[in-house]
Amino acid sequence: MSTPSRRLVVVSNRLPYIVSRNGEDRWQVVPGSGGLVSALVPVLGQRGGTWIGWPGVATDDEHLDHVLADVSAGCGYALKPVHLTPDEVHNFYQGFSNAVVWPLFHDLQSLCNFDPEYWRTYRAVNRKFAVTIRANSEDDDFIWVHDYHLMNVASELRAAGSHARLGFFLHIPFPSLDLFAKLPWCVQLIDALLQFNLIGFQTLRDRRNFVQCVRALVPGTEFEGKGPVLTATTGERTIRIGTFPISVDFTAIERQAALPEVARRANELHRLLPGRKLLLGVDRLDYTKGIPNRLDAFADLLHRFPHLRERISLIQVVVPSRVEIRDYDDLKNTIERLVGRINGEFMRPGGWVPVWYVYGSLNTTDLLAYYRAADIALVTPLRDGMNLVAKEYCASSIEEDSVLILSEFAGAAAQLRRGALLVNPYDVEGVAEAIRVAFTMSEDERRARMRRLRRSVRRNDVFLWVDNFLAAAFASDVDRLPKDTRPLSILESDYASHGFVSGDVEPEPATPLAEGLIARRHAANLLN
Ligand code: F6P
Repeated sequence: MSTPSRRLVVVSNRLPYIVSRNGEDRWQVVPGSGGLVSALVPVLGQRGGTWIGWPGVATDDEHLDHVLADVSAGCGYALKPVHLTPDEVHNFYQGFSNAVVWPLFHDLQSLCNFDPEYWRTYRAVNRKFAVTIRANSEDDDFIWVHDYHLMNVASELRAAGSHARLGFFLHIPFPSLDLFAKLPWCVQLIDALLQFNLIGFQTLRDRRNFVQCVRALVPGTEFEGKGPVLTATTGERTIRIGTFPISVDFTAIERQAALPEVARRANELHRLLPGRKLLLGVDRLDYTKGIPNRLDAFADLLHRFPHLRERISLIQVVVPSRVEIRDYDDLKNTIERLVGRINGEFMRPGGWVPVWYVYGSLNTTDLLAYYRAADIALVTPLRDGMNLVAKEYCASSIEEDSVLILSEFAGAAAQLRRGALLVNPYDVEGVAEAIRVAFTMSEDERRARMRRLRRSVRRNDVFLWVDNFLAAAFASDVDRLPKDTRPLSILESDYASHGFVSGDVEPEPATPLAEGLIARRHAANLLN
């Protein structure tokens, strides 16, 4: 579907460049990698546009702005930084974004710190982003805001008089009403989200959760439609709400995975670890990724199936992340203790090492070599918006002879459930059993499953994701958008099988929770 070629303004917490200090007042700026960047850069180049975000360092050095302006001149679109003070980094980024929204939206409420100062700073920083957006856009640009750091931006823009068309995509899950209602500012946040014209989620399940929250918190909202994009009407406003599962650049990954250098390193890994199957985990250091549970499952496998000892090794790559946050540091210690315990129990001097633990950032060649060398990938997050490691693994599996074990709580499970072995990451014995099944799976079955997975990722790549989102933003009639024919995941099919399809929304019965929420809505209006 063609979309009017309005200029595109992309807004995300971080700019698509990695900025670091290189001496007293010198800056190093290198392009970031990843699907989002590779998908959006061509669109920005085509339509012209701007990317607004935090450079990732707390500074107000004007020299950095000049460096970024020089980079902009060479990259085909403008880069506009939003600078944050150290207090803002603490209260907005580490605080509200990563110690409230991140754990809550990943169903880990016990890790939340609902500090009111965090919320105040979140609003102030979202206002700061809105000011930069206003200064660098026109009302007929399309402004596409990304992720949980910036849920208040539309509200700030509208308050400043903007009539621009605003889209928002949430990269992480959206929680159920029971969890969302725990947030002391849930009413304000849902109202703020409804100021966007289009809100996109990764899965039907996230969208269903959001719709239930809107029903409970914004009484009188009417929903209409079926299929990938619904329409919500509240007062004078009409909002589109859709599902757009994000993906990877399949062709680029496949091409790079086939490079001789990648093949050489993959072979080297097999030479170093001969006569055994390689099991691979690659994760950012994050408590949502379920790394300790996975290590427990691997230990359980070695206990219960002793004949697999010395015939399998787990390579666990952990990429440092959010290192300033205490919970992340604690997790690193837990993982290292568990790795030490497993190796201490099963390893013999000069012999087999059960767990190879790699802590650090990998370059693309090394990452792809791990993917290509791995016979089985273990992608077992406790909860994940999508999980692109699962899709990258499929795109890299060019021999089509490998197995993906995937958590049913990863957004990717909705698309990949037919080819992957789905597991509950909390079920230690179940995950161990899935590893055993993958270990003994026939070559024919491995190939059939991997072919199916690769077909799905190839068809639904990140470029289709961009196209679908923009089509939903501009289509005059959402009912004419292509229907979503993906199979439903287990978690999504539970409500489909109750007789209402994705677009239909079950009315919420009045409950004490619903009544309490309405009272909170009145209180919030008084306080605003
Ligand atoms: O998945 C959410 C996300 O914000 C990604 O966009 C990002 O790559 C990752 O988490 C790490 O985020 P950050 O280092 O910016 O906190």
